[in-house]
Amino acid sequence: MAILLPGGAGFIGSHTAIELLERGKEIIIVDNFLNSNAKVLESVKKITGRDFKFYEIDYKNRAELEKVFEENEIEAVINFAGFKAVGESVQKPIEYYHNNISGALVLLDTMRKYGCKKFIFSSSATVYGEPERIPLTEECRVGGTTNPYGNTKLFIEQILKDIYQSDNTWDICILRYFNPVGAHESGLIGEEPQGIPNNLLPYMVRVANEQLKELSVFGDDYDTPDGTGVRDYIHVVDLAKGHLKALDKIEKEGQGLYIYNLGTGTGYSVLDMVKAFEKTTGKKVPYKIVPRRPGDIAICYANPQKAKDELGWEATKTLEDMCQDAWNYIKKGNSSYGRNARDNKKNDIRENRL
Ligand code: WQD
Repeated sequence: MAILLPGGAGFIGSHTAIELLERGKEIIIVDNFLNSNAKVLESVKKITGRDFKFYEIDYKNRAELEKVFEENEIEAVINFAGFKAVGESVQKPIEYYHNNISGALVLLDTMRKYGCKKFIFSSSATVYGEPERIPLTEECRVGGTTNPYGNTKLFIEQILKDIYQSDNTWDICILRYFNPVGAHESGLIGEEPQGIPNNLLPYMVRVANEQLKELSVFGDDYDTPDGTGVRDYIHVVDLAKGHLKALDKIEKEGQGLYIYNLGTGTGYSVLDMVKAFEKTTGKKVPYKIVPRRPGDIAICYANPQKAKDELGWEATKTLEDMCQDAWNYIKKGNSSYGRNARDNKKNDIRENRL
């Protein structure tokens, strides 16, 4: 019995693949490399010393996905095949809704057809919109998302609740990620944002590597200790381990729909991040304060107690680990950012015909 990972060549998928393989699980990765790189799969094999099946297909392609289910016994699915760039989602809503929502529906329908009803979904703290209270618990109000990316997460959560309502033999776990950062400590895999990064740590790393001039800090007039935005940054390896605990939960207990925050429970400001990065890596991160970025909230961090109590999971890596590992990945030269090696055409979602 195998665990299917659509989008398993991506940032969080590949780190989760490693944890699953190291735990002795059999995995199958499905990916179309639209936002990832075939090289990652070799790195996963190198790190773990294990092999796995891979299908280069688009998970929205029902016929091809069915073939995967025909040819394998799939016990559970962890879905990483989502587009995730907030700004891009505003420019390309149809692509985002189609990939994330139509894709999830094709996947869930195919799972149902083959009697596979264990599903883990990569959701996001973005579903909380403007936080009702801080720290955020799973009971906090959801809604008020401000972009198509966030809407897809919210809508898929609702779809999953409706599916469970109609058939409670499904076992579903919704994981709400806070701000995933860092890279595998080997330096062989890490985050590969397309073009100029939008997220804070990938941007800082490029500034430190002198590929970008300076960091723009989006606002220093928030109601936070130093005026800059506060977030719950979580190391991607901690996050990956959370998926294994979620899998244990739905494998063992059965018949339920569960929702967990995956965060550290600690909020750091943008300037905290700059200081931690400089201290850990010894590299300077020049920055300037600029106006707030539209759609940003002041503070967002998790109460991760439910995941601790019910999954036995908690984040263990420090802010220094996050900075060091993100930097290490760039320094070791395994990132394709800034090099011509990347097949830009393939990585442009405009090429993704509906
Ligand atoms: C963090 C803080 C910025 C860049 C988004 C998505 C979320 C999740 C992660 C995943 C904020 C500030 C940033 C910069 C800055 N999605 N910042 N200068 O916005 O919390 O969350 O990414 O795939 O769903 O909404 O993350 O890293 O963009 O920003 O000052 O150049 O850093 O204002 O306070 P965010 P982020």
